[in-house]
Amino acid sequence: MQKGDLLYEGKAKSVYRTENEGVVLMEFRDDITAFDGGKKDSLETKGCVNARVSASLFRLLMEHGIPTHFIELLQDRFMRVRALNMIPLEVIVRNVAAGSMSRNYPIAEGTPLNPPVIVIDYKDDSRHDPMLNDDLIIALKILTPEELTRVRDIALRVNSILMQFFSSLGITLVDFKLEFGKADGEIMLGDEISMDSMRLWDKRTGESLDKDVYRFSKGDVMEVYRRVAEKICAGEG
Ligand code: TYD
Repeated sequence: MQKGDLLYEGKAKSVYRTENEGVVLMEFRDDITAFDGGKKDSLETKGCVNARVSASLFRLLMEHGIPTHFIELLQDRFMRVRALNMIPLEVIVRNVAAGSMSRNYPIAEGTPLNPPVIVIDYKDDSRHDPMLNDDLIIALKILTPEELTRVRDIALRVNSILMQFFSSLGITLVDFKLEFGKADGEIMLGDEISMDSMRLWDKRTGESLDKDVYRFSKGDVMEVYRRVAEKICAGEG
């Protein structure tokens, strides 16, 4: 597979063209950022670890019938994925109050949320990703009402599958962020699912097993990422 022109460069991933118009290469770089890019570092092997975790979770979701862009994991830190027209939304699903939810609203960190709470932000760094609601999403013509229902439905199904999976590993899935795109008119899951985009707590000790270790300098980030990745990818060849 030929790595073509750089199509897009984000804070931690780069996307390259391939010889096939419908397929792109996603590179998971070692960069890590937090606080709107205010904190930045490069952590050796992080890209590779997150690529493996994302591939593993996409496979799990696809086995359960969730449409995703994932095609295959290539050596090291590259993933072959379907080229999507990305929808500029960050769809956050929360099972336990944490992070911005507890900062912005009067709800203590650790409060269980049942049913889960979906929050959708407009993905626009220059506007600091403002929160949207259904009426705004439709008024801005980001999605039709039917597409919004579909996105919510997929997000909740992904939540059930991942919650159950992490629970079996002794981990609480606190919250996570998804991004969607369209290919041939079909909405599917894009981007990544990794410790950068989920909040995971050790069920027994409450220890953070995700990017909060980096955000709040709680310890050796890569040691934690490697430990979680090993659990997630256990059982795969
Ligand atoms: P949230 O609590 O809203 O933000 P913060 O990380 O600033 O406390 O995040 C909820 C979850 O979504 C968390 O697991 C991190 C993930 N997320 C991203 O991956 N990218 C983002 O841009 C945002 C806002 C959240």
